[in-house]
Amino acid sequence: MTAEPTAGSTTGSGTGSSAPAFDLASTYLGLPLRSPLVASSGPLTARIDSLRALEQAGIAAVVLPSLFEEQVEYEDLEADRLSGLGADSNPEASGYFPDLGEFESVADRYLRHVEEAKRALSIPVLASLNGVSPGGWLRYAQLIEEAGADALELNLYEIATDIKVSGRVVEDAEVDLVAQVRDSISIPLSVKIGPYYSALGHQCARLIEAGADGLVLFNRFYQPDIDPETRKVAPALVLSSSAELRLPLRWTAILSGRVEGSLAVTTGVHTGADAARCLLAGAEVAMMTSALVMNGPGHVAVVERELVEWAVESGFESVDQLRGSVSQRHVADPAAFERANYMATLTGFTSSFH
Ligand SMILES: Cc1cc2nc3c(=O)[nH]c(=O)nc-3n(C[C@H](O)[C@H](O)[C@H](O)COP(=O)(O)O)c2cc1C
Repeated sequence: MTAEPTAGSTTGSGTGSSAPAFDLASTYLGLPLRSPLVASSGPLTARIDSLRALEQAGIAAVVLPSLFEEQVEYEDLEADRLSGLGADSNPEASGYFPDLGEFESVADRYLRHVEEAKRALSIPVLASLNGVSPGGWLRYAQLIEEAGADALELNLYEIATDIKVSGRVVEDAEVDLVAQVRDSISIPLSVKIGPYYSALGHQCARLIEAGADGLVLFNRFYQPDIDPETRKVAPALVLSSSAELRLPLRWTAILSGRVEGSLAVTTGVHTGADAARCLLAGAEVAMMTSALVMNGPGHVAVVERELVEWAVESGFESVDQLRGSVSQRHVADPAAFERANYMATLTGFTSSFH
């Protein structure tokens, strides 16, 4: 069993003083954390009561839901439109136009959520900005820092659908965006990306060079479905399973020790064994959303206990000691993370039928 999941504690696998201890102390983006378990952006980080419940269950840090580029840009346009409406009217009529000063925009509400989360919690609170185009919405990076966030996660949720725009152009724009955000804040900056780049490792290195302190691997793209009955495009949000961990795991193992920044895994972390896989591959933290949505905030304590039990049984004493020990640089067969593994996997599967 784990010790009480209080901030800064070192967790042991038993209650007696002779029980082997496992030191969960971790860092992410330079922030000291009590463990490597972080709640990624999602419904449970949108409310103060569930944030408190996550902290109570032992989560080491939380990433708030994103403020989206589209939300900020839409509200800016609406504000312009509404302030223009009353401009030509006589003074009497202007009383019927909304007083913009009275409205709390989505963006203002977001900043308030950052402030309230900071007041309510003693663990690090990371805010999230989500978008891909340069523009006025980026001013929120600085406002988020002023609201007290301990770090900013910039989510580049990009679906590059314009067939006239090359990969290089898309990638350069992302690098420029990261550099721009880096220049506007002094808190740590992580960048959450998808896996769909021709040379993913190279782009990761460029994002770090542009000023990211870490990378969050990977965005889980919600694939729209088509409903054959209505013949409409149906948005479909399906929560993840542990099987989806393989993709971020492979790339974490490949990038570990090769890029300068912190690595965080998101997508498919559900159990203590999953968190262990992330650390072995070289991640500083394992992030969870689906597992917490399915099982509730208390699941954090379950994952922590499973992680500690596994670590103690495996003879590890600390997160530091085990991190990256199965990264590509440290395994006897580095090709296992590469193309060579493809043929071996198919051949092994096929021969099992004979
Ligand atoms: C309901 C829901 C809302 C989410 N909202 C955000 C968000 O606002 N910003 C973001 O970067 N990721 C968001 N995510 C993605 C999660 O942070 C996470 O990266 C993804 O779900 C994969 O991790 P998982 O397998 O642990 O669920 C959301 C996920 C879910 C399920």
